[in-house]
Amino acid sequence: MSTDTLIITDVSPRDGLQNQSVLLPAAAKVELVRLLAAAGVPSVEVTSFVSPAAVPQMADAAEVLAGVLKMAPLLRASVLVPNLKGLTRAIAAGASEAAVVLSATETMNQRNINMSLEVATAVCEETVQAARQAGLATRAYIAVAFECPFEGLVESSVVLALCERMLAAGVQEIVIADTIGAAVPRQVTRLLHDLAGTVPLGQTAVHFHDTRGFGVANAWAAIEAGVRRLDASAGGIGGCPFAPGAAGNVATEDLVLLARKSGLHTGIDMDGLRVALEYAESWLGRPLGGRTMAWHRRKQREAAEA
Ligand code: COA
Ligand code: ZN
Repeated sequence: MSTDTLIITDVSPRDGLQNQSVLLPAAAKVELVRLLAAAGVPSVEVTSFVSPAAVPQMADAAEVLAGVLKMAPLLRASVLVPNLKGLTRAIAAGASEAAVVLSATETMNQRNINMSLEVATAVCEETVQAARQAGLATRAYIAVAFECPFEGLVESSVVLALCERMLAAGVQEIVIADTIGAAVPRQVTRLLHDLAGTVPLGQTAVHFHDTRGFGVANAWAAIEAGVRRLDASAGGIGGCPFAPGAAGNVATEDLVLLARKSGLHTGIDMDGLRVALEYAESWLGRPLGGRTMAWHRRKQREAAEA
């Protein structure tokens, strides 16, 4: 991995669509992923194999993954699984990469996956181990790693202990997630510093939400700390239905522009991203994207008129 390359995982089909009132048909989700891949996005979290009673928007996970494997066979396609049942369903649908989700606090695990922190940790361990045995690549989210909507600020030592358990279980990528978008850059710098001796930088990813407008600043703090794997979502759609106050993820296009203007590469083409975004807009029925996409669209209009 070149140190001037950012590896962006676009989570809009999962983190984004799980929270929308508009239900997209599986074929439309597949098309969104295909357009993201065509724009050069190297890695996409395409769906989640969770309980359809908990998240009805993801009930079509098997169909979506099968479609993605057919339409974008070269894409690194990951899926979220909360337990062994989800992993079994994911493997049956052809998954080659799976992410488990472990929240750093007792209450958040209860609300999200109906498990205590200790049970959730054990379930994530066994799910990672089973995924590794089945030959899958694995990620482990440490959700609410900075602040929990129910329990407040989270100590680095708690996150560190959970990372150690996940690494010991064989996970390849740890995703430090600011699920509710509560962190500021200084907290990011501090947590990554505290984790440095335990989680190798090459195995560290970050996942920011932009609830209060600090998403890009937090991403930059992580980049300055040496992290090169970042989650983002096209148009900034996203949010967790079980975490009150969680707004959208940091927008993929914001990171693409940030990278480009900072001499870093993402391999992602802005125009291709705009096409994917406009496709998502046509389904969700509202404009998506923040100031970066508005700026890009304006520049394109000006160029067309010149
Ligand atoms: N996929 C589909 N169905 C599942 C499942 C999975 N991964 N895991 C459990 N189920 C089914 C069980 O088979 C059972 O079905 P039944 O009622 O027909 O017998 C039912 O769900 C209840 O199972 P149980 O093990 O008691 O689960 P639960 O009700 O305690 O829910 C989770 C636990 C983890 C399955 C659920 O909370 C969940 O899917 N959460 C996901 C939350 C999420 O996606 N958050 C956003 C991303 S971070
Ligand atoms: Zn998220």
